[in-house]
Amino acid sequence: MITGKYPGLRLRRNRKFSWTRRLVQENSLSPSDFILPIFLIDGINKKEPVNTMPGVYRYSINKLPQIIEKAIKIGIPMVALFPKTKNNLKDAVGSESLNENNLVCKAIVEIKKRYKNQIGIMCDVALDPYTSHGHDGLIKSKQIINDETIEVLINQSLLQAQMGCDVLAPSDMMDGRIGKIRKSLDKSGFQNVQILSYAAKYASSFYGPFRDAVGSKGSLIGDKKTYQMDFKNSNEALREIALDIKEGADMVMVKPGMPYLDIIKSIKENFKIPVFAYQVSGEYSLISNAIKKKLINDDAIYESLVAFKRAGSNAIVSYYADRLDKILI
Ligand code: PBG
Repeated sequence: MITGKYPGLRLRRNRKFSWTRRLVQENSLSPSDFILPIFLIDGINKKEPVNTMPGVYRYSINKLPQIIEKAIKIGIPMVALFPKTKNNLKDAVGSESLNENNLVCKAIVEIKKRYKNQIGIMCDVALDPYTSHGHDGLIKSKQIINDETIEVLINQSLLQAQMGCDVLAPSDMMDGRIGKIRKSLDKSGFQNVQILSYAAKYASSFYGPFRDAVGSKGSLIGDKKTYQMDFKNSNEALREIALDIKEGADMVMVKPGMPYLDIIKSIKENFKIPVFAYQVSGEYSLISNAIKKKLINDDAIYESLVAFKRAGSNAIVSYYADRLDKILI
């Protein structure tokens, strides 16, 4: 690896001016590398700030064009939709997830009607925005029950596909759901709907602000450690990925992002499949609040995003994606 030695070899020579640094640069970012998450809220003419995430808002359906048009103009390939469901619509089994007039369904229909295939739509498959207990699945005797949950997730997937969702993203971490969802989609004529599996999703403290944004924070009983992964493990992530690929995932996600760059890298080395990173809400809030408090400057955003490319991510889900016109300059 090292071909030479000081003083003959001086690595600083390649760094002396901007033009030479650009010539030897190994990674770069473009808008095509990004997925923009969008929070949805009921009502009209609403653009409501998420207090724990400076610069991020919840949009009512009629306000969506504002952000979608910006995303299209910047050149972002896909948005990810997340609903803040009203508390009176939540119940123990997440019934609202199967309502064809729920926020996500209405948003899909509206975006597809206005923008056709100018931009892709990704939707989470999981019950947590809809359950009164805030968990991703059904509960029986204090356990999150796997196989029964999958049956609901299949119906949620079929409904979202029917509405026009392009990419289904199961984020629930139930065993075996990718295969079952793929099979049901194919049987119903949705062979072309893609599956992006949140395959390596860790039980993490970095999701706090997201749960605030979708309103599941106060309601979450206990933690998600019986289904999301233990952050002490990495081989287990490779097993999760291998299974999901076998079951039919088109792309896989690692989540959170920055504390898990090692996982992204080892997936990339072991599997030749598109790998995405989710720079989650807690990462976003830490960086944004530190910038706001002038603890670090805003170049930290670009640095944090390039890290994902360096580790091997094909794309990055980031709450900064709607401001790439200012970040990627
Ligand atoms: C739901 C889901 C979560 C996130 C995306 N989908 C939260 C969770 O699993 O508790 C987190 C995203 C973020 O923190 O930005 N299953």
